[in-house]
Amino acid sequence: MRQFFAIIGHPVAHSLSPRFQQAAFDAAGLDAAYLPFDIPPEQLSQALSALRILGVAGFNITLPHKESLLGMVDDLSETAREIGAVNTVVSRQGEWLGENTDGPGFLLALERFLEANRLPFPSHVLIFGAGGSARAVLWALAHRPVGAICLVNRTRSRGEDLLNLPILSGIPEKTASALDQSSWRSWISKAKAPLVINTLSLRAFAGNAIPFPPLEDLSLSEATLFDLSYVPSRPSEGGAEAVGRTPFLEMGSRFGAPSQNGLGMLLCQGALAFRLWTGREAPMERMEEVLMLATGQKSLWKSL
Ligand SMILES: NC(=O)c1ccc[n+]([C@@H]2O[C@H](COP(=O)([O-])OP(=O)(O)OC[C@H]3O[C@@H](n4cnc5c(N)ncnc54)[C@H](OP(=O)(O)O)[C@@H]3O)[C@@H](O)[C@H]2O)c1
Repeated sequence: MRQFFAIIGHPVAHSLSPRFQQAAFDAAGLDAAYLPFDIPPEQLSQALSALRILGVAGFNITLPHKESLLGMVDDLSETAREIGAVNTVVSRQGEWLGENTDGPGFLLALERFLEANRLPFPSHVLIFGAGGSARAVLWALAHRPVGAICLVNRTRSRGEDLLNLPILSGIPEKTASALDQSSWRSWISKAKAPLVINTLSLRAFAGNAIPFPPLEDLSLSEATLFDLSYVPSRPSEGGAEAVGRTPFLEMGSRFGAPSQNGLGMLLCQGALAFRLWTGREAPMERMEEVLMLATGQKSLWKSL
Protein backbone atom coordinates (compact mmCIF):
# COMPACT_ATOMS: atom_id res chain seq x y z
CA MET A 1 0.00 0.00 0.00
CA ARG A 2 1.16 3.54 -0.75
CA GLN A 3 2.86 5.15 2.27
CA PHE A 4 1.90 8.62 3.36
CA PHE A 5 4.27 11.30 4.78
CA ALA A 6 3.62 14.94 5.66
CA ILE A 7 4.91 18.25 6.92
CA ILE A 8 2.84 20.31 9.36
CA GLY A 9 3.42 23.99 10.13
CA HIS A 10 1.73 27.39 10.13
CA PRO A 11 2.35 28.74 7.54
CA VAL A 12 3.66 25.90 5.40
CA ALA A 13 2.98 26.94 1.79
CA HIS A 14 6.53 28.33 1.42
CA SER A 15 8.15 25.02 2.45
CA LEU A 16 10.44 23.34 -0.08
CA SER A 17 10.25 20.00 1.78
CA PRO A 18 7.31 18.58 -0.24
CA ARG A 19 9.25 19.12 -3.47
CA PHE A 20 12.54 17.55 -2.49
CA GLN A 21 11.11 14.78 -0.27
CA GLN A 22 8.68 13.66 -2.99
CA ALA A 23 11.57 13.69 -5.49
CA ALA A 24 13.59 11.57 -3.03
CA PHE A 25 10.82 8.95 -2.66
CA ASP A 26 10.38 8.84 -6.44
CA ALA A 27 14.14 8.54 -7.07
CA ALA A 28 14.34 5.69 -4.53
CA GLY A 29 11.45 3.90 -6.29
CA LEU A 30 9.26 4.00 -3.17
CA ASP A 31 5.48 4.18 -3.46
CA ALA A 32 4.99 7.17 -1.15
CA ALA A 33 3.32 10.59 -1.06
CA TYR A 34 4.59 13.60 0.98
CA LEU A 35 2.03 16.35 1.61
CA PRO A 36 2.02 19.77 3.35
CA PHE A 37 -0.68 20.66 5.91
CA ASP A 38 -1.16 24.18 7.30
CA ILE A 39 -2.20 23.60 10.91
CA PRO A 40 -2.79 26.56 13.28
CA PRO A 41 -1.71 25.93 16.91
CA GLU A 42 -5.31 25.62 18.18
CA GLN A 43 -5.93 22.70 15.78
CA LEU A 44 -2.64 20.87 16.38
CA SER A 45 -4.09 18.23 18.67
CA GLN A 46 -6.97 17.41 16.30
CA ALA A 47 -4.59 17.35 13.31
CA LEU A 48 -2.32 14.84 15.07
CA SER A 49 -5.32 12.60 15.84
CA ALA A 50 -6.26 12.72 12.16
CA LEU A 51 -2.71 11.81 11.09
CA ARG A 52 -2.79 8.82 13.46
CA ILE A 53 -6.13 7.62 12.07
CA LEU A 54 -4.87 8.04 8.50
CA GLY A 55 -1.81 5.93 9.37
CA VAL A 56 0.89 8.47 8.51
CA ALA A 57 4.29 6.72 8.21
CA GLY A 58 6.24 9.79 9.28
CA PHE A 59 6.16 13.58 9.21
CA ASN A 60 8.16 16.77 9.60
CA ILE A 61 7.22 19.59 11.91
CA THR A 62 8.06 23.23 11.29
CA LEU A 63 7.28 26.56 13.02
CA PRO A 64 5.48 27.01 15.38
CA HIS A 65 4.93 23.38 16.49
CA LYS A 66 8.42 21.95 17.13
CA GLU A 67 8.35 22.45 20.92
CA SER A 68 4.66 21.45 21.29
CA LEU A 69 5.39 18.05 19.73
CA LEU A 70 7.67 17.14 22.66
CA GLY A 71 4.64 16.23 24.76
CA MET A 72 2.54 14.76 21.94
CA VAL A 73 4.57 11.73 20.83
CA ASP A 74 4.98 8.28 22.41
CA ASP A 75 8.76 8.50 22.85
CA LEU A 76 11.62 10.91 22.25
CA SER A 77 15.12 10.33 20.89
CA GLU A 78 18.03 11.53 23.01
CA THR A 79 18.77 14.25 20.42
CA ALA A 80 15.19 15.59 20.50
CA ARG A 81 15.30 15.56 24.30
CA GLU A 82 18.63 17.43 24.38
CA ILE A 83 17.58 20.02 21.81
CA GLY A 84 14.12 20.39 23.35
CA ALA A 85 12.22 20.22 20.06
CA VAL A 86 10.90 17.68 17.54
CA ASN A 87 11.20 18.29 13.78
CA THR A 88 10.66 14.69 12.61
CA VAL A 89 8.24 11.97 13.73
CA VAL A 90 8.78 8.34 12.78
CA SER A 91 5.85 5.94 13.11
CA ARG A 92 6.77 2.33 14.03
CA GLN A 93 3.56 0.25 13.91
CA GLY A 94 1.64 3.34 15.04
CA GLU A 95 4.03 4.22 17.91
CA TRP A 96 5.40 7.73 17.31
CA LEU A 97 9.08 8.49 17.97
CA GLY A 98 9.93 12.21 18.14
CA GLU A 99 13.31 12.95 16.55
CA ASN A 100 15.32 16.07 15.80
CA THR A 101 17.40 16.23 12.62
CA ASP A 102 17.93 20.02 12.72
CA GLY A 103 20.99 19.81 15.00
CA PRO A 104 22.75 16.96 13.10
CA GLY A 105 21.60 18.49 9.77
CA PHE A 106 23.11 21.86 10.67
CA LEU A 107 26.40 20.18 11.62
CA LEU A 108 26.57 18.17 8.37
CA ALA A 109 25.83 21.27 6.29
CA LEU A 110 28.33 23.45 8.16
CA GLU A 111 31.11 20.87 7.79
CA ARG A 112 30.39 20.32 4.11
CA PHE A 113 30.44 24.09 3.51
CA LEU A 114 33.71 24.53 5.46
CA GLU A 115 35.30 21.64 3.54
CA ALA A 116 34.14 22.93 0.14
CA ASN A 117 35.66 26.32 0.92
CA ARG A 118 38.81 24.94 2.65
CA LEU A 119 38.00 26.57 5.96
CA PRO A 120 38.95 25.10 9.37
CA PHE A 121 36.29 24.42 12.01
CA PRO A 122 36.17 27.70 13.98
CA SER A 123 36.96 27.93 17.66
CA HIS A 124 35.01 31.18 18.25
CA VAL A 125 31.32 31.28 17.36
CA LEU A 126 28.84 34.15 17.66
CA ILE A 127 25.16 33.26 17.35
CA PHE A 128 22.34 35.73 16.77
CA GLY A 129 19.04 34.46 18.21
CA ALA A 130 17.89 32.23 21.05
CA GLY A 131 14.83 30.51 19.57
CA GLY A 132 14.26 26.87 18.61
CA SER A 133 16.85 26.76 15.84
CA ALA A 134 19.54 28.33 18.09
CA ARG A 135 19.07 25.31 20.38
CA ALA A 136 19.77 22.98 17.42
CA VAL A 137 22.89 25.01 16.52
CA LEU A 138 24.15 24.88 20.13
CA TRP A 139 23.58 21.11 20.21
CA ALA A 140 25.77 20.81 17.08
CA LEU A 141 28.54 23.04 18.46
CA ALA A 142 28.56 21.02 21.71
CA HIS A 143 29.70 18.05 19.59
CA ARG A 144 32.82 19.85 18.29
CA PRO A 145 35.84 21.33 20.12
CA VAL A 146 34.53 24.91 20.19
CA GLY A 147 36.40 27.21 22.60
CA ALA A 148 34.07 30.18 22.99
CA ILE A 149 30.46 31.06 22.21
CA CYS A 150 28.78 34.46 22.33
CA LEU A 151 24.98 34.34 22.10
CA VAL A 152 23.25 37.59 21.11
CA ASN A 153 19.51 38.02 21.41
CA ARG A 154 16.92 40.78 21.67
CA THR A 155 15.81 39.23 24.97
CA ARG A 156 19.09 38.64 26.77
CA SER A 157 17.60 36.33 29.45
CA ARG A 158 16.57 33.81 26.75
CA GLY A 159 20.19 33.69 25.62
CA GLU A 160 21.42 33.20 29.20
CA ASP A 161 18.95 30.34 29.70
CA LEU A 162 20.22 28.57 26.58
CA LEU A 163 23.85 28.88 27.59
CA ASN A 164 23.01 27.05 30.83
CA LEU A 165 21.94 23.92 28.91
CA PRO A 166 23.81 20.88 30.34
CA ILE A 167 25.04 19.81 26.86
CA LEU A 168 27.15 22.99 26.74
CA SER A 169 29.08 22.23 29.93
CA GLY A 170 32.21 21.26 27.92
CA ILE A 171 32.51 24.65 26.20
CA PRO A 172 35.02 26.76 28.19
CA GLU A 173 33.79 30.32 27.46
CA LYS A 174 30.12 31.31 27.13
CA THR A 175 28.84 34.90 26.93
CA ALA A 176 25.29 36.22 26.55
CA SER A 177 24.61 39.69 25.20
CA ALA A 178 21.55 41.70 24.25
CA LEU A 179 21.29 42.78 20.60
CA ASP A 180 21.35 46.45 21.62
CA GLN A 181 24.37 46.12 23.95
CA SER A 182 27.93 46.82 22.87
CA SER A 183 29.49 43.80 24.64
CA TRP A 184 29.05 41.40 21.69
CA ARG A 185 30.73 43.93 19.41
CA SER A 186 33.88 43.98 21.53
CA TRP A 187 33.70 40.15 21.82
CA ILE A 188 33.66 39.73 18.06
CA SER A 189 36.35 42.30 17.37
CA LYS A 190 38.72 40.28 19.62
CA ALA A 191 37.66 36.83 18.31
CA LYS A 192 40.02 35.12 15.86
CA ALA A 193 38.35 34.10 12.56
CA PRO A 194 34.89 33.86 14.13
CA LEU A 195 31.96 31.94 12.68
CA VAL A 196 28.88 34.19 12.82
CA ILE A 197 25.58 32.31 12.68
CA ASN A 198 22.20 33.96 12.22
CA THR A 199 19.16 32.19 13.65
CA LEU A 200 16.98 35.30 14.02
CA SER A 201 13.65 35.08 12.27
CA LEU A 202 13.05 37.35 9.28
CA ARG A 203 10.93 39.59 11.52
CA ALA A 204 14.21 40.88 13.00
CA PHE A 205 15.23 42.31 9.61
CA ALA A 206 12.06 44.24 8.81
CA GLY A 207 10.69 47.27 10.66
CA ASN A 208 12.90 46.61 13.66
CA ALA A 209 13.53 49.37 16.23
CA ILE A 210 17.10 48.07 16.73
CA PRO A 211 19.30 49.01 13.74
CA PHE A 212 19.78 45.97 11.55
CA PRO A 213 21.89 44.48 10.03
CA PRO A 214 24.12 44.90 13.08
CA LEU A 215 27.52 43.96 11.64
CA GLU A 216 27.87 46.57 8.96
CA ASP A 217 30.19 48.92 10.83
CA LEU A 218 32.52 46.13 12.00
CA SER A 219 35.64 45.06 10.17
CA LEU A 220 35.42 41.27 9.95
CA SER A 221 37.83 40.28 7.23
CA GLU A 222 38.40 36.79 8.70
CA ALA A 223 34.81 35.95 9.66
CA THR A 224 32.62 33.26 8.10
CA LEU A 225 28.86 33.83 7.94
CA PHE A 226 26.14 31.16 8.13
CA ASP A 227 22.45 32.08 7.95
CA LEU A 228 19.81 29.47 8.76
CA SER A 229 17.34 31.33 6.58
CA TYR A 230 17.40 30.74 2.83
CA VAL A 231 14.90 33.44 1.87
CA PRO A 232 16.84 35.82 -0.42
CA SER A 233 16.63 39.57 0.12
CA ARG A 234 16.16 40.30 -3.57
CA PRO A 235 14.59 37.30 -5.30
CA SER A 236 14.51 38.72 -8.81
CA GLU A 237 17.24 41.38 -8.76
CA GLY A 238 20.89 41.62 -7.87
CA GLY A 239 22.36 39.49 -10.67
CA ALA A 240 23.24 35.81 -10.69
CA GLU A 241 25.98 36.30 -8.10
CA ALA A 242 23.43 37.55 -5.52
CA VAL A 243 21.09 34.51 -5.81
CA GLY A 244 20.55 33.02 -2.36
CA ARG A 245 21.91 35.98 -0.39
CA THR A 246 19.66 36.69 2.56
CA PRO A 247 19.48 40.15 4.21
CA PHE A 248 22.02 38.89 6.77
CA LEU A 249 24.41 37.60 4.09
CA GLU A 250 24.24 40.89 2.19
CA MET A 251 26.45 42.16 5.02
CA GLY A 252 29.01 39.46 4.31
CA SER A 253 29.35 40.57 0.71
CA ARG A 254 30.54 43.96 2.01
CA PHE A 255 33.62 42.57 3.68
CA GLY A 256 34.12 39.49 1.55
CA ALA A 257 33.30 36.89 4.21
CA PRO A 258 32.63 33.31 3.05
CA SER A 259 28.84 32.97 3.33
CA GLN A 260 26.35 30.11 3.43
CA ASN A 261 22.56 30.22 3.66
CA GLY A 262 20.21 27.61 5.18
CA LEU A 263 19.55 25.60 2.01
CA GLY A 264 22.32 23.09 2.75
CA MET A 265 20.95 22.60 6.26
CA LEU A 266 17.44 22.12 4.85
CA LEU A 267 18.79 19.40 2.56
CA CYS A 268 20.79 17.65 5.30
CA GLN A 269 18.01 17.64 7.92
CA GLY A 270 15.63 16.31 5.23
CA ALA A 271 18.07 13.59 4.15
CA LEU A 272 18.43 12.44 7.77
CA ALA A 273 14.62 12.35 8.14
CA PHE A 274 14.37 10.28 4.93
CA ARG A 275 16.85 7.75 6.36
CA LEU A 276 14.92 7.52 9.63
CA TRP A 277 11.65 6.87 7.78
CA THR A 278 12.91 4.42 5.16
CA GLY A 279 16.08 2.87 6.61
CA ARG A 280 17.82 3.80 3.34
CA GLU A 281 20.41 6.45 2.48
CA ALA A 282 18.68 9.47 0.92
CA PRO A 283 19.25 10.20 -2.78
CA MET A 284 21.08 13.43 -1.89
CA GLU A 285 22.06 14.38 -5.43
CA ARG A 286 18.46 14.29 -6.64
CA MET A 287 17.26 16.27 -3.60
CA GLU A 288 20.00 18.85 -4.13
CA GLU A 289 19.09 19.15 -7.81
CA VAL A 290 15.45 19.88 -6.90
CA LEU A 291 16.49 22.55 -4.37
CA MET A 292 18.78 24.25 -6.90
CA LEU A 293 16.01 24.21 -9.50
CA ALA A 294 13.50 25.68 -7.02
CA THR A 295 15.80 28.51 -5.87
CA GLY A 296 18.04 29.24 -8.84
CA GLN A 297 21.16 28.61 -6.73
CA LYS A 298 23.99 26.98 -8.70
CA SER A 299 25.52 25.29 -5.66
CA LEU A 300 24.51 24.63 -2.08
CA TRP A 301 28.11 24.53 -0.85
CA LYS A 302 30.12 27.26 -2.56
CA SER A 303 30.29 30.60 -0.77
CA LEU A 304 27.46 32.95 -1.82
N1 LIG B 1 17.56 25.88 7.07
C1 LIG B 1 16.84 25.12 7.87
O1 LIG B 1 16.75 23.91 7.70
C2 LIG B 1 16.17 25.77 9.06
C3 LIG B 1 15.76 24.98 10.15
C4 LIG B 1 15.16 25.63 11.25
C5 LIG B 1 14.97 27.03 11.23
N2 LIG B 1 15.37 27.74 10.14
C6 LIG B 1 15.18 29.21 10.09
O2 LIG B 1 15.74 29.80 11.26
C7 LIG B 1 15.03 31.00 11.59
C8 LIG B 1 14.65 31.02 13.07
O3 LIG B 1 13.82 29.91 13.39
P1 LIG B 1 13.46 29.60 14.92
O4 LIG B 1 12.72 28.31 14.89
O5 LIG B 1 14.67 29.67 15.78
O6 LIG B 1 12.49 30.82 15.27
P2 LIG B 1 11.99 31.29 16.71
O7 LIG B 1 12.06 30.16 17.70
O8 LIG B 1 10.71 31.98 16.48
O9 LIG B 1 13.12 32.37 17.15
C9 LIG B 1 13.09 33.63 16.65
C10 LIG B 1 14.32 34.46 17.08
O10 LIG B 1 14.22 35.70 16.38
C11 LIG B 1 14.17 36.77 17.34
N3 LIG B 1 13.27 37.83 16.86
C12 LIG B 1 12.00 37.69 16.38
N4 LIG B 1 11.51 38.91 16.02
C13 LIG B 1 12.49 39.82 16.27
C14 LIG B 1 12.59 41.23 16.12
N5 LIG B 1 11.59 41.95 15.61
N6 LIG B 1 13.75 41.84 16.49
C15 LIG B 1 14.79 41.13 16.98
N7 LIG B 1 14.75 39.79 17.17
C16 LIG B 1 13.61 39.14 16.82
C17 LIG B 1 13.71 36.16 18.64
O11 LIG B 1 14.18 36.97 19.71
P3 LIG B 1 13.41 37.00 21.16
O12 LIG B 1 13.93 35.79 21.92
O13 LIG B 1 13.85 38.28 21.77
O14 LIG B 1 11.94 36.93 20.87
C18 LIG B 1 14.39 34.78 18.57
O15 LIG B 1 15.74 34.87 18.94
C19 LIG B 1 13.83 31.05 10.63
O16 LIG B 1 14.15 31.94 9.57
C20 LIG B 1 13.71 29.62 10.12
O17 LIG B 1 13.15 29.55 8.83
C21 LIG B 1 15.96 27.14 9.07
